[in-house]
Amino acid sequence: MFLHIPMFYSESVAQKGGGNMPSSRRKARVICMILILNIFICVLVVVSRNLGQDKSDRRKVRIPSKRFWRRQALSKSFWNKEQQHLDFFFNPILSSALSNSSLLDLPDWLNDTAPLNPCETDGRVSTQIWDFNTLPQRFQDFLRHMHCRTYPMLINQPHICDNKPYLLLAIKSLAPHFDRRQAIRESWGRAGVLANRGVVTVFLLGSATSIDFFPDLSWMLEHEAELHRDILQWEYRDTFFNLTLKEVLFLDWFSQHCPQVQYILKADDDVFVNTLQIIDFLEGLPEARAEDLFIGDVIDNAGPHRDPKLKYFIPESVFVGQYPPYAGGGGYLYSGELALRLSAISGQVALYPIDDVYTGMCLKKLGLIPEKHKGFRTFGIEEKYRYNPCIYKSLMLVHSRTPQEMIQIWSWLADPDVECQ
Ligand SMILES: *[C@@H]1O[C@H](CO)[C@@H](O)[C@H](O)[C@H]1NC(C)=O
Ligand SMILES: *[C@@H]1O[C@H](CO)[C@@H](O)[C@H](O)[C@H]1NC(C)=O
Ligand SMILES: *[C@@H]1O[C@H](CO)[C@@H](O)[C@H](O)[C@H]1NC(C)=O
Repeated sequence: MFLHIPMFYSESVAQKGGGNMPSSRRKARVICMILILNIFICVLVVVSRNLGQDKSDRRKVRIPSKRFWRRQALSKSFWNKEQQHLDFFFNPILSSALSNSSLLDLPDWLNDTAPLNPCETDGRVSTQIWDFNTLPQRFQDFLRHMHCRTYPMLINQPHICDNKPYLLLAIKSLAPHFDRRQAIRESWGRAGVLANRGVVTVFLLGSATSIDFFPDLSWMLEHEAELHRDILQWEYRDTFFNLTLKEVLFLDWFSQHCPQVQYILKADDDVFVNTLQIIDFLEGLPEARAEDLFIGDVIDNAGPHRDPKLKYFIPESVFVGQYPPYAGGGGYLYSGELALRLSAISGQVALYPIDDVYTGMCLKKLGLIPEKHKGFRTFGIEEKYRYNPCIYKSLMLVHSRTPQEMIQIWSWLADPDVECQ
C-alpha cells in the first residue's frame, strides 16, 4: 500500500505532464503530500494496534478462569455439532485440563453422541436430527453410520508398492465398470515405467453385492483382481455418500502399504489423464513446493446446496457454513508426504457426505489450501476441441471420457506424426 500510491501518482503525472518547470514543481508537491499521508497512516496503524491490545497481558497466556466451553453455543446442525465434539477432544489445552481429574466434570453436551462401538448402527440420530424422518434415504444411511471408519478389506495388494514407485494412480471405480478399468490399464494408467519413473495403479472399490449392484459380479471381480493385481476392495456399500469413506480407507491403506510413494494422483474412472504431462510437471517442481503439493481444479467460496432435487443437496439440519477451498473430486494430485498427514488428521474431521469437500476440510485443518492448476479440467473442455489431439498434450486431466476415447487419446499422445506447436 505504501509503495503503491507514489508509483501510481508518478506514473499518471508523467503521462499527463509535458516535462516543463511548473509540472515538476507540482510533482514535488504531490510526492510531499504522499509522504505526509504515509506517515499519517503509519501512526494510525501503530495506535490502533496498541489500542487493540491491553499492555499488561500481552505476554501472558490467558488461562481460563471459568470453563469457557460451557458458554460455547452448540450448533443445531448435526455435522457441525459432531465437529465441535472432535475439536473439543483434540484441543491440546482442553485435553490437558481433562487429564486433571478435578476438572473432569464434562459439559452435558459432550456426553450425548458417540456410541460405544462406532461401527454399530447409531439409532439416536433419528431423535437428534429434527427432520431426520423426512430426509432422503441416503442421508439416513449416512448419518446412522458416520462414526464408522474401519471396514474389512476383501481384496488387498499389500506388496504393490514394494518397488517404491514415483507415482501412484488411485482410481475410484465401481464393481461393474470393467471396461473403464481395462481402458485405463491400456492407456493412461498403464503400470510400469513411464518417462523413467515407476508408476503403479490401484482401483478403489467397495462391496459388489446385491443391495446396490445386481446381478452379483463379485466372482468376476475376483477373477479380474487375480489377473491384474490392481484391485483394492473393502466391505462397505459403494454409494455416492460413502465416497468419503473410500477416501479415508484409501489414506489408511496408503499409510500402511505405500508410505514411500512420492506422488499420488487420485481420480475418477471416467477421466482422461495425461500421465506424461503429470510426470513432467512433478519433475520440474522445486523441493519446497513438492512436500505440500495439492493441486487440482479448485473451487473457492462454495457452500451447501439447499435444493433437495440436486445431487449435492445438504439440509440445514446436517450442515451450516461455507466450504473451505477444495479440489474437485474428478482428479487431484498431491504428495505422498501430504497423504500421510491427511490420513493422520482425518480422525479429527467428522465424515462429510461429499468426499472432495471433506478432503478440503482436512487440508484446512492442516493449515493448507489446495492450489488451482488450469491443466485440471474436471468440468471438461469446449466440445469443439474434443477430437483435437494437440489439446491433450498440454492438459493434465479432463472429465469425462469414454473407455474408447481414453485409448484413442492416449495413442495420439504417443504418435510422433501428430505435430503441435
Ligand atoms: C487441577 O485443577 C485444580 C483446580 O483448578 C488445581 O488446583 C490443581 O492444581 C490442578 N492439578 C494439576 C495436577 O494440574
Ligand atoms: C454420560 O452419560 C451416562 C448415561 O447418560 C452417565 O451414566 C455417565 O455418568 C455420563 N458421563 C459423564 C462423564 O458425564
Ligand atoms: C456406507 O456403507 C456402510 C457399510 O456398508 C452402510 O452401512 C451405510 O449405509 C453406507 N452409507 C451410505 C450413505 O450408503
